[in-house]
Amino acid sequence: MKVAIGCDHAGIAMKNEIIPILEELDVDWEDFGTKCEESCDYPDYGEKVSEAVSKGNVDRGILICGTGIGMSIVANKFPGVRAALCSEDYSAKMSRMHNDANLLVLPGRIINGKTAEEIVKVWFKTDFEGGRHQRRLDKIKAIESRINK
Ligand code: RB5
Repeated sequence: MKVAIGCDHAGIAMKNEIIPILEELDVDWEDFGTKCEESCDYPDYGEKVSEAVSKGNVDRGILICGTGIGMSIVANKFPGVRAALCSEDYSAKMSRMHNDANLLVLPGRIINGKTAEEIVKVWFKTDFEGGRHQRRLDKIKAIESRINK
């Protein structure tokens, strides 16, 4: 499992808290930046991680900004990316079981490190259920094809 992780300045502290958890989970990660606390623009880093997921260069992505909203908006523009903004572990679990989310977005200024840890752990440990949920994902794919024509 190869994962791209990225953030803006509002997400860097949480990114640094999450990397040891990825190590613990035996997830192979690559940091796509930002790597300093200087103010930056979330679309720049959202694009790098989302593109890597969209092109299949990595299996999954994690993005963190202040609210998670900006990164979610960016990520869900990319074909094949199913980004889930999660503030608690139930949504994280369901985003895997029902939506086969391949990109996790975290709100660095809203949740604490303990909650982020719970979210990340459940998100990596939960499998997609398939079945009726696959039919729904196929419909999303069909929508993507229609609007990207
Ligand atoms: C940065 O101040 C903040 O706007 C950004 O991290 C994010 O919350 C945007 O959605």
